[in-house]
Amino acid sequence: MIEVTCTAPINIAVIKYWGKRDEKLILPINESTSATLDQSQLCAKTTVAASPDFTSDQMWLNGQEQSMDSARLQNVLKEIRRRARKRKSDGSGEDRVNWHVHICSENNFPTAAGLASSAAGLACLVFSLSKLFEVEGDISDVARQGSGSACRSIYGGFVEWTMGTEVDGSDSRALQIASETHWPQMRVLILVVSAKKKHVGSTTGMQTSVKTSQLLAHRAEKIVPERMVEMRRAIKDKDFQTFAEITMKDSNQLHACCLDTYPPVTYMTDTSRDIVRLVHAVNNHYGENKVAYTFDAGPNACLYLMEDMVPTMLGLVQNFFPPEQDHGEAFLTGLPSKVSTPSQE
Ligand code: DP6
Repeated sequence: MIEVTCTAPINIAVIKYWGKRDEKLILPINESTSATLDQSQLCAKTTVAASPDFTSDQMWLNGQEQSMDSARLQNVLKEIRRRARKRKSDGSGEDRVNWHVHICSENNFPTAAGLASSAAGLACLVFSLSKLFEVEGDISDVARQGSGSACRSIYGGFVEWTMGTEVDGSDSRALQIASETHWPQMRVLILVVSAKKKHVGSTTGMQTSVKTSQLLAHRAEKIVPERMVEMRRAIKDKDFQTFAEITMKDSNQLHACCLDTYPPVTYMTDTSRDIVRLVHAVNNHYGENKVAYTFDAGPNACLYLMEDMVPTMLGLVQNFFPPEQDHGEAFLTGLPSKVSTPSQE
């Protein structure tokens, strides 16, 4: 038996992916940008084992056996095995490609609560399988076929997911635009408003948006391309003012598109909106952007800020959202994370 264990952190988009032009290959209608967070905080850990004695592929997530029927999972396994077979081999890796695999995966954070759990989980799975089967080269396009945003967790630091133009999706990949050491003062605070499973998953939510939201079509065609250029420059120049402004506007636009979806999809709650107000109040107080919020397909807030603002922001969050007080469904936790990279144990 051979066995590999890897961890992959979540990534938080600052320009959001929302909508596919190809459901099967998972090709997006717009490009996106994210930062991959620190391993020590929110990450997925996966052990994959292959053995000639295993009689079928099997998978466990947080200790519960999962069905292997998912088309996405099958696509990912098929593609990794295809690449492994293709690899010029000295013979050592050949047999294992035909062995069945056992996959054991766990998240150290709530699954499906809008905390990019699928991104970390699928990135980790693909990363581990590539090590197990000794697949070399870029594997972000394989991770993409597991879950779109997962392709960005294959790389550390600041990452873009390019749309690509090929019909087979082979050039829709993740690309690191700045390494994890590029902007060492950058921190992310995750404020867990609710750890419950979301009502409408991102896959379904974005499908309905693509079908019904004119705002989304306009965003993908006219707004995101310019934002990508500006964001790339802001990251390269470590220009937090621009970085923060685009991040907040892009999150607001994602949720505006969700509201423009018919029937509407709502992910943010009153507590999420209170966090938005708090961030703008802080930025107004300082007369410049000190903090930026962003929300994925859930009510939890991710705050991007510089290291020196972390104590102030944590203090404000604890003051305005004390954990012992009832905010409806809310409790909030601060997790300052540096940006980093996936790894093998
Ligand atoms: C709001 O990657 O979870 O987090 O490709 O259908 O698996 P599928 O969707 P998923 O969508 C993530 C959407 C988002 C924005 C983002 O991460 O860019």
